[in-house]
Amino acid sequence: MPTILVTGGNGYIGSHTVISLFENGYDVVIADNLSNSKMEVQNRLEQITGKRFKFYNVDCCDESALDKVFDENQIDSVIHFAGLKAVGESVKIPLEYYSNNIGSMISVLKSMEKHGVKKLVFSSSATVYGMSEDVPFTEQSPLGMCTNPYGWTKWMIEQILRDYAVAHPEMRICLLRYFNPVGAHESGLIGEDPRGIPNNLFPYISKVAGGTLECLTVFGDDYDTPDGTCLRDYIHVCDLAEGHVKAISFLGKTEDPVSVFNLGTGKGTSVKEAVSAFEKACGHPIKHVFGARRPGDIAVCYASTEKAERELGFKAKYGIDDMCASCWKWQTMNPEGLKD
Ligand code: NAD
Ligand code: UD1
Repeated sequence: MPTILVTGGNGYIGSHTVISLFENGYDVVIADNLSNSKMEVQNRLEQITGKRFKFYNVDCCDESALDKVFDENQIDSVIHFAGLKAVGESVKIPLEYYSNNIGSMISVLKSMEKHGVKKLVFSSSATVYGMSEDVPFTEQSPLGMCTNPYGWTKWMIEQILRDYAVAHPEMRICLLRYFNPVGAHESGLIGEDPRGIPNNLFPYISKVAGGTLECLTVFGDDYDTPDGTCLRDYIHVCDLAEGHVKAISFLGKTEDPVSVFNLGTGKGTSVKEAVSAFEKACGHPIKHVFGARRPGDIAVCYASTEKAERELGFKAKYGIDDMCASCWKWQTMNPEGLKD
């Protein structure tokens, strides 16, 4: 079976995708600089799959280090997860975000070009739809009006890839716009392992449920939504991982140099509903208070999933209860996260 280079394959979504690729018969090579993940993930992947994956500790901005990876392996396609992703941090250190996210994408492309590799899946985000509230977001919805440098890096990289494909029509590039990935592998051995105090809802709820954090602040309960709290399209990370396997197979068939897909469930869940679902999963109340709106948040964000269903054959199978149950299992098995 073909070998897939997974950059950022030691991270949250990347590690779950490595498992799905393996389960679908692909060989996997991982390149990650460990800037936001721990080497223990590789032991966990081995525990789950019985296989030790080939791992390169490289910075994807370093083209010559990447060249070595391509020289030493017969790479068929690349899934480029590597990147920085914390919205708040991107506002404080924008240059690091622009240089790491855009720099790594350009180095990966140059190295791919030198080695004749033509298939690429890129981790984009629903954040490219910006502040628009015209839901559901379809792949044709207007882009831009991003609220932070992280979002702009995704928007800019999408544009760079479209420009690159004009110059290289032999390329087959898939832009995957993820909605809100949550949950963990059913084994409880890998999951989202943020450093420090989490910014995102599910890691925060998990830590309140587990007793490491005291209380969740719900950011705003005066939105124009049924219960006043924001609606998001949470998608189980294992569904998302399957979406990447579908995308790799799609790239082998399509004639289009660039294709774009939303990966979501098409359903909006409110913050209050998420808290209730988590309470059901963990079996006790989750302390929460209602606070001010968080700047930059939109009321409602969910995907149109039609195109992904029709063209990729992708449909999420897990619901919010599965997402909460798997988060809780991961949290209880790894209350302090993974060791360094
Ligand atoms: P993550 O931080 O868990 O994983 C990213 C991995 O990339 C980490 O292991 C990190 O060490 C590595 N990395 C970062 N910069 C690197 C570099 N220059 N060279 C080599 N490795 C590098 O993040 P994640 O949640 O798994 O996200 C993966 C991708 O999906 C990112 O590009 C992210 O922006 C995108 N995305 C994530 C979400 C989300 O909510 N998690 C939503 C939309 C898009
Ligand atoms: C965030 C990012 C977005 C990224 C997405 C992927 C921001 C502003 N946006 O989206 O760029 O693509 O993650 O997962 O960070 N909430 C609380 N209390 C909390 C944390 C969150 O009430 O402590 C609420 C938020 O207001 C929001 C919802 O929970 O309504 C989800 O928040 P979060 O998990 O941070 O995701 P997004 O903001 O949708």
